[in-house]
Amino acid sequence: MRSGEQVVSNVVASQFATHQPYGGIVPELASREHLRAILPVVRQALSEAGKSYAAVDALAVTQGPGLAGSLLVGISYAKALTFALEKPLIAVNHLEGHIHAVLLEERQKGHRELALPVLALVVSGGHTHLYLVERQGELWSYRNVGHTRDDAAGEAFDKVAKLLALGFPGGPTIDRLSGHGDGRAVKFAPSQMKHPDRKTRGRQVEVGGGRRFDFSYSGIKTAVLRYVETHQLLPSIEARRQAVASLAGPRIEDYLANCDQPTLDLIASFQQAVVEDLIEKTLAAAREYQVAGLFVTGGVAANNQLRERFDREAASAGFPVYFPSRPLSTDNAAMIAAAAYPKLLARQFAPVEFSADASMALG
Ligand code: KG4
Ligand code: ZN
Repeated sequence: MRSGEQVVSNVVASQFATHQPYGGIVPELASREHLRAILPVVRQALSEAGKSYAAVDALAVTQGPGLAGSLLVGISYAKALTFALEKPLIAVNHLEGHIHAVLLEERQKGHRELALPVLALVVSGGHTHLYLVERQGELWSYRNVGHTRDDAAGEAFDKVAKLLALGFPGGPTIDRLSGHGDGRAVKFAPSQMKHPDRKTRGRQVEVGGGRRFDFSYSGIKTAVLRYVETHQLLPSIEARRQAVASLAGPRIEDYLANCDQPTLDLIASFQQAVVEDLIEKTLAAAREYQVAGLFVTGGVAANNQLRERFDREAASAGFPVYFPSRPLSTDNAAMIAAAAYPKLLARQFAPVEFSADASMALG
């Protein structure tokens, strides 16, 4: 990345094919694939940028949160490279990266003076977090005002997709199949979207003088399972599992051809319930904290219905809403470089002894 704004190259190595047969990420396989990919990916990024290692001013790497094994591969490699090249190293929080994907693209559109604070919904396979985002000089600050108490929204998409034999990752498939079903067909009770916090018995605790807006998506996953059992959908799931197992790379048309209407209605209703819950809580937090705008970012921000409804409902609530482009919604390196740039300007470099932090908090 040049000047915190121009993406000179952005190489993404996907591991989905490796994890697909297991219906979820297998940590050991993930670190092995990282190890395999890291050298060729960095070489390709430099070659697409037409740059040598020596021409780089600084390197940035993700410190956490994430799978420790995968984080360590990146950190060890980045440390070795910066040591050999005598360049500074910047440690970045993955969630901060998702927020900077939005800031980066707004700068690219010439929108440099965003009104602050903004409320950022970071919604991915591992997180459903709300942050108040502000700026202090060069550096950005984040305050968490909500998080999931159990499953992340993307995790719920993936687990429901696994249950319904829709492949992995489930989000993009559920997104596209939902257009073929009736989102009002299956009603999920609001209690299925709430999980009482054991420590506070469900009260929205005040922390640092502000209300919290927590999420919970494990209940709806169980509700989908109950629905499948009580509506005798298991035989059709099994038939679909066998039909797509014989295909090398099942496409959306293959899933569609193997889904009956009750299944499509269930898929659409699940997605609608999650989308409505995300929007409702985010807008409630936006009103509470009187923010100037909203960011919606992370893998699930690629979801079509989430984007359309957020656009509409945030506009009618008086909040401008910003999304990253779809390629920058899911994990990528450009967002990590974008988050690192203000730290480079502030010369906030990582100490040599820093290590992976699998559950790293932001703010
Ligand atoms: O941010 P990301 O690429 O990786 C993590 O940091 O977790 O997010 C991946 C998650 C997966 O759970 C995937 O199913 C979900 O984002 N996802 C979607 C869509 N595209 C990706 N969920 C719903 N609709 C989509 N179109
Ligand atoms: Zn992510």
